Amino acid sequence: MCNFTVPLYTQSESPLEMSTRIPLTAAFVTLVLCATASAQDRTAGQRSFESRCAICHGGDGHGTDRGPAIYNKTAARDNQSLAAVIRNGLPAGMPAFSPTQLPDAELAELTTYLRTLQPVPAPGGRGPQRPVIRETLTLTNGKTLEGVQVGVGIDDHQLRTDDGKLHLLRRVDNKYREATSTVDWPTFHGDMSGNRYTTMNQITKDNVKNLGAKWIYTIRNAQGLQDTPQVVGGIMYITNVNTCIALDAGSGRQLWQWNRPAQQGVMGGASNRGVAVAGDRVFIVTDIAHLVALNRFTGEQIWDTEMADWHKNYGATGAPLAVGNLVISGVTGGEAGTRGFLAAYDQTTGREVWRFWTVPQPGEPGSETWTGKDIEHGGGPTWITGTYDPQLDTLYWPTGNPAKEYNGDDRKGDDLYTDCLLALDAKTGKLKWYYQFTPHDTFDWDATEIPVLVDANFQGQPRKLVLHADRNGFFYVLDRTNGKLLLAKQFVKELTWASGIGADGRPILKPNQEPTAAGTRVCPSQDGATNFYSPSYIPSTGLFYFQTFEKCSIYTKGPDEWTPGKNYLGGVQRAVAGPSEHILRAMDINTGAIKWELTETPGSGGWGGTLSTVTGIVFFGEEGGAFAAADAATGKLLWTFYGNQNWKASPMAYMFDGREYLAAISGGTVIAFALPN
Ligand code: HEC
Repeated sequence: MCNFTVPLYTQSESPLEMSTRIPLTAAFVTLVLCATASAQDRTAGQRSFESRCAICHGGDGHGTDRGPAIYNKTAARDNQSLAAVIRNGLPAGMPAFSPTQLPDAELAELTTYLRTLQPVPAPGGRGPQRPVIRETLTLTNGKTLEGVQVGVGIDDHQLRTDDGKLHLLRRVDNKYREATSTVDWPTFHGDMSGNRYTTMNQITKDNVKNLGAKWIYTIRNAQGLQDTPQVVGGIMYITNVNTCIALDAGSGRQLWQWNRPAQQGVMGGASNRGVAVAGDRVFIVTDIAHLVALNRFTGEQIWDTEMADWHKNYGATGAPLAVGNLVISGVTGGEAGTRGFLAAYDQTTGREVWRFWTVPQPGEPGSETWTGKDIEHGGGPTWITGTYDPQLDTLYWPTGNPAKEYNGDDRKGDDLYTDCLLALDAKTGKLKWYYQFTPHDTFDWDATEIPVLVDANFQGQPRKLVLHADRNGFFYVLDRTNGKLLLAKQFVKELTWASGIGADGRPILKPNQEPTAAGTRVCPSQDGATNFYSPSYIPSTGLFYFQTFEKCSIYTKGPDEWTPGKNYLGGVQRAVAGPSEHILRAMDINTGAIKWELTETPGSGGWGGTLSTVTGIVFFGEEGGAFAAADAATGKLLWTFYGNQNWKASPMAYMFDGREYLAAISGGTVIAFALPN
């Protein structure tokens, strides 16, 4: 506020000027002088912002109908990147400002000012900061709850009591009742086995046609999210890169949000698939390969551990897995020539407890499978969440492709432990066994598809199995106690690189399938015959439900040198012209026979996974953008909801307030489905 006093007329004013003026009131003069004074207080940067940018971004940088909020965007950009946006503009309506319009010196002042823009309190729990509102609410059972309001809607309300607990409330007249989840989805896969199978039975083949969206929540400026929401104790956790958001799982109202700016120049941290939850904590990885623990009720950060140096091309995207008092987490970087590993951290302190390197050091066991210098930058990332058998105390974790990606000349041999399934002792990280799906891979066929743990009769004998449909086009059944191959079956129509899997577990290679300078056509494509999107399994049908991709690639080989901040590819891949087909398939795990197929809308680039139910339904993200349900016995389409986005995520299920929900992320929006009231 301007709070100095001014004389009505100053002595410098000449009688002539006085006479030509209309008389001024004291208030008016104060106002004008105040405005002038504060204009002088304003920095050159602020004046530049107000005259050039505020019309669209608002005087406080919080956005208008013409432009988005930018107060919260500057931290993620360095000065060069901000200058680039301002000089070049952006496609969706941000104009370009040339040096003649906006000289370099002014741009520098403007940039400094942009970094001072602050959040302001916003109502309704969606804003970055809320004013503290203490309140006492009466419950329907006559008791009262006193605490701080976390969120409020027309009939939902969220309160944090002084013991730190969150209460998710629903209004009944002037009172409130507590609601929560009674069936959770506590890990990326829903449970440790990776089945993506729910025993909830409210949604059936008969009533699925009535399923509708109950709530949606959109993450700002997000698209193509690969996250599976997780629900624990009524709270849903969703993620984007360096973002974790907690929601009331019954209304989608935001409880808290944790953010960290994206790092410019980081490799391979461009998505995030979710959290691990244990006790009062959630764990999330960041783009720069850190693992962070947050208080799951408040979003406050508890610890932050660097898993690897991002300057050496490491990143992280996978949902960690909480096992015992450890949290297991992997890294990315198969394309960027990192040395892959999987590591376990103490949930309380963030201290590393063990680490398993997926590429051995020269001289270590497995190093004999690497001839050439690429053992230094051999890849083998661990970016999809593995599964866990508590009885065997064994982790099953798949690994990604070797580097350089398309050129195997400097890594002759099998390149262990890339493209493998690893069975590791959960407490020590010691290798129990491994199975390699694609030895000496030159096609980017990460084995980062979900290892599904199933106890079933296999060819007449009860067995502990692990099921795995690989990017290379074969479906595998292994004995998970020892890694012995029990079945391998081709599941796509065209597969050019191998004629089958031999009794020794190795692929029987076809000739002339390596990438060449001229280009080699190989099927399946780099996208894989399947990929990281989740499969599911229903015990009563004995069928494995998974999304498959009929497509081929041309692989071209070339030279490359490993460089920080660059991919290490040694060639290039392009799609073969012509249609590519997404097919939902149901496979008999005893024989590898395809029981049914459902061909999806061609060619839109969706990557949606599946979820199965005890009531015999397979839910899946359909290639044309719909969330869809099929009869698990026959593949008949039962229901669709048109999302009009490319799916990159897999669905999940939970029970809240007595009602069965399904949720999935379409684009940047979480959609929670339930039957009508
Ligand atoms: C005519 C309206 C308009 C004006 C004037 C304008 N902007 Fe923008 N700005 C936009 C829109 C719309 C976007 C979003 C563009 C997109 O997402 O492609 C944007 C995006 C941005 C972003 C990127 C935000 C992000 O997502 O990281 C920055 C930074 C920015 N503007 C700064 C400025 C500055 C500084 C000025 C003044 C020199 C300015 N803008 C003037 C409309 C405007």
